[in-house]
Amino acid sequence: MVQFKVILAVETSCDDTSVAIVRHNGEVCAQVSANQDLEHAPYGGIVPEIASRNHTIQLLPLIESCLKKASMNLNDMDGFVVTNRPGLIGSLIVGLVTVKTLAQSLNKPFIGVNHLEGHLLAPFLRDQDYQPEYEFNEPAVALAVSGGHTSLYEVIQFGKYKVLGHTLDDAAGEVYDKFAKMLGLGFPGGPMVDRLAQQAETGKYQFPKALYNEQTLDMSFSGLKSAAHRLLSQLNPETIKLDTPRLCADFQQAVVDVLVYKLQNAAIKTGHKMAILTGGVSANSALRSKATTWAKKNNIKLLIPPLRYCTDNAAMIGYVGIQRLNRGESSDLKLGPSPQLLSGDFL
Ligand code: KG4
Ligand code: ZN
Repeated sequence: MVQFKVILAVETSCDDTSVAIVRHNGEVCAQVSANQDLEHAPYGGIVPEIASRNHTIQLLPLIESCLKKASMNLNDMDGFVVTNRPGLIGSLIVGLVTVKTLAQSLNKPFIGVNHLEGHLLAPFLRDQDYQPEYEFNEPAVALAVSGGHTSLYEVIQFGKYKVLGHTLDDAAGEVYDKFAKMLGLGFPGGPMVDRLAQQAETGKYQFPKALYNEQTLDMSFSGLKSAAHRLLSQLNPETIKLDTPRLCADFQQAVVDVLVYKLQNAAIKTGHKMAILTGGVSANSALRSKATTWAKKNNIKLLIPPLRYCTDNAAMIGYVGIQRLNRGESSDLKLGPSPQLLSGDFL
């Protein structure tokens, strides 16, 4: 018998505040999220103090509205789940303290989970508008790519994950955001660069693809950022204005070529026939289309969760947590937040 049928999950590891109610089979009863893009936009990146302050303002109203949306109340919850690592310490604390308080006052168990495990299993969530095309019954390779992380994993089975490679410096989303900032496109820049890139042909400008065509599954994007800075400082403002879509198209191609090449190599190296693409950058149109073409050609079962489960969200955290609670795991009140992963998180 399943002991934990439904839980409430909270995600506050970075700048998105998210609350979800999730069943043990991955069904999302409700999810509500608030992003802070407008608050961070003037700085062109995330300011940790602003992020944690906004979590404190948004979290309790979001919990209320999530319960309302699911027509449930706190007593219906069998337990609580929260991201406790990795992330911004001040942001993590807000979610953790809130969930500990709920669990203790209602006398229900809670568990802290690894944010990245959430991203890896996000494609197996389900709701009224989304069902995974394939079930989680074979090993997979996964590319998690966002503003904070860019890593390749082997998803061997639930709870058993291996890091195959990661960025040696900047995350791909971070470089998108920096490039957008150089072009004065606003924050977060990824969606803007993507939109503009679709309006132009590639081929006019050269951007470096570090570690491309090399055996390693590690990646590097800081050279691309410096090259973009150099290129833009050599062009006159008129040319930049006129050529912004072309610059975006060539920049995007450099990032996407590397990401898909590495995902492909990870699949070849492991021999796995299932691939997962997840994290905020997997919203990128060129990345989706190039990965889909590769998968079709090579008989790979590719899973890309819908956007609401790709970007930071509480549903993916809840899914991991309820599986773990049903396996007999739980946390105690001594659990603290951790900016880094823990030693057992990955093989
Ligand atoms: O997963 P996420 O919501 O938060 C974390 O960073 O953990 O990812 C946000 C990142 C930002 O860097 C944003 O610019 C990028 O994902 N992003 C995109 C696109 N949509 C969001 N990057 C490229 N193309 C997009 N369409
Ligand atoms: Zn994330």
